[in-house]
Amino acid sequence: MNQLDLKRMVAYRAAQLVPDGALIGLGSGSTAELFVQFLGERVRNEGLRVVGVPTSERTVAAAKAAGVELTTLEEHPELDMAFDGADEVDPDLNLVKGLGGALAREKIVAKASRVFVVLVDESKLVDILGSKSPVPVEVLQFGWTRTSRELESMGLQPVLRTRDGLPYVTDNGNYVLDLHVGPISNPSDLDLKLHLVTGVVETGLFIDIASLVMVGTQDGVIEMRR
Ligand code: A5P
Repeated sequence: MNQLDLKRMVAYRAAQLVPDGALIGLGSGSTAELFVQFLGERVRNEGLRVVGVPTSERTVAAAKAAGVELTTLEEHPELDMAFDGADEVDPDLNLVKGLGGALAREKIVAKASRVFVVLVDESKLVDILGSKSPVPVEVLQFGWTRTSRELESMGLQPVLRTRDGLPYVTDNGNYVLDLHVGPISNPSDLDLKLHLVTGVVETGLFIDIASLVMVGTQDGVIEMRR
């Protein structure tokens, strides 16, 4: 099975976990979009009643295409479950997220959910966060060079994310700085330090948030629990 097959397998399995009447968070990225498609199949085939809070405009479009009803956190501030992908998962179920740029909304929705389920293929498992992926940080456009300099002075090697030669702009109208930090000895400490930098809106470090990680492997789906 290739990486897409593994993502599809885990997304399918996760969609079967959603109980009738659930209020759920809908993550962003390719695995989360597969999950939304499988959820839509259950809505159509079984009459499953489910309402979702999307974490990006792309997920809004995916949910609409799949026939999944949407709501907002303003209407429903507490969710039963949220399902999302990740870029790295460590043995303590801490994550790096945000290579798709939706990290701020993803973290708000994950924290609003009683159970946060992470869907990954086995290539996302790491011993130490930062081993493979940069850590994305969403920053205000205003003064972003000043914010970037402050991060640089902390030794974090920020790189402005671009798309088609222009700065990448999040759904919230902000920029993303990708921090090339290498293996992170204390992710919780780094997350706290990043939040003290003026101009930082949110980080892609998800510490102590995931309740369950479902991993697509060549031998089937394995589950990691806190
Ligand atoms: C989106 O902002 C990200 O946090 C994604 O969840 C993450 O990049 C995983 O994406 P894939 O499921 O596409 O690998």
